[in-house]
Amino acid sequence: MVEPIRTKTGVPGLDEILYGGIPQNNLVVISGDPGSGKTGLVIEYLYNGVIKYNEPGLYISLEESAEDIIGFAELFGWDIRALINKKLLNIITIELYDFDKLKNTIEDEAKRLGAKRLVIDPGVVFRLYFDRELDARKRILSLGRMLKRIGCTAIITNEISLEKSSSLFGLEEYVADGVILLYHTKLEDRFIRSIGILKMRGTKISEKLHPIRITSTGVKVLAKQELFEDVK
Ligand SMILES: Nc1ncnc2c1ncn2[C@@H]1O[C@H](COP(=O)(O)OP(=O)(O)OP(=O)(O)O)[C@@H](O)[C@H]1O
Ligand SMILES: [Mg+2]
Repeated sequence: MVEPIRTKTGVPGLDEILYGGIPQNNLVVISGDPGSGKTGLVIEYLYNGVIKYNEPGLYISLEESAEDIIGFAELFGWDIRALINKKLLNIITIELYDFDKLKNTIEDEAKRLGAKRLVIDPGVVFRLYFDRELDARKRILSLGRMLKRIGCTAIITNEISLEKSSSLFGLEEYVADGVILLYHTKLEDRFIRSIGILKMRGTKISEKLHPIRITSTGVKVLAKQELFEDVK
């Protein structure tokens, strides 16, 4: 396999289990149960993009206001507002009532910003918008193609339920180039936060589940540890 150009997430441990990062221009779905760290991880991805790799990023919010997201990032010490002021990052909240309009807005804004990284959170609402699965599949594929054309490595978040995680995969996961699972794994009387890479086109991946930690500095993947290894 030809070694791909990588988009490093900069999230500690995550690039390691991806053998160097997300292959450039991939469309990745992060699926996780409630509170599993999806939003934290995608903000960290965009923040690192600007701070560490000099890559502008665009956050498409389909639910929360830009102020909410800025406030959430502040809890981890990430000054998103300063990056927005410098036009290196932008957050736009879009109401999803017209998919083609959404796609055009994303394209225009990403080009204006010169975005190399894009996040749609929570992307799960796409599914609610379409009556027919075939329709949804086609539209999501066309969104993915547009993002590749303009040179963005994109992450879309998706919500899954804790118990039924394996049966709830939506079409986004099948259409996407990569799927990352974030969830709480139950062990006796506690939950352990974990991450697993289900697929990532164009690269080798760790096939293990790894523990993650969320602390005041953000999300961290314990790449050297396997799940339950540290549990006494
Ligand atoms: N400093 C911190 N230390 C430990 N845990 C934290 C810290 N800050 C936030 N958290 C936890 O991280 C989680 C936040 O996760 P996040 O909002 O990214 O999850 P999510 O998967 O996007 O959730 P949702 O399903 O609600 O969209 C919360 O459960 C919160 O308690
Ligand atoms: Mg969230």
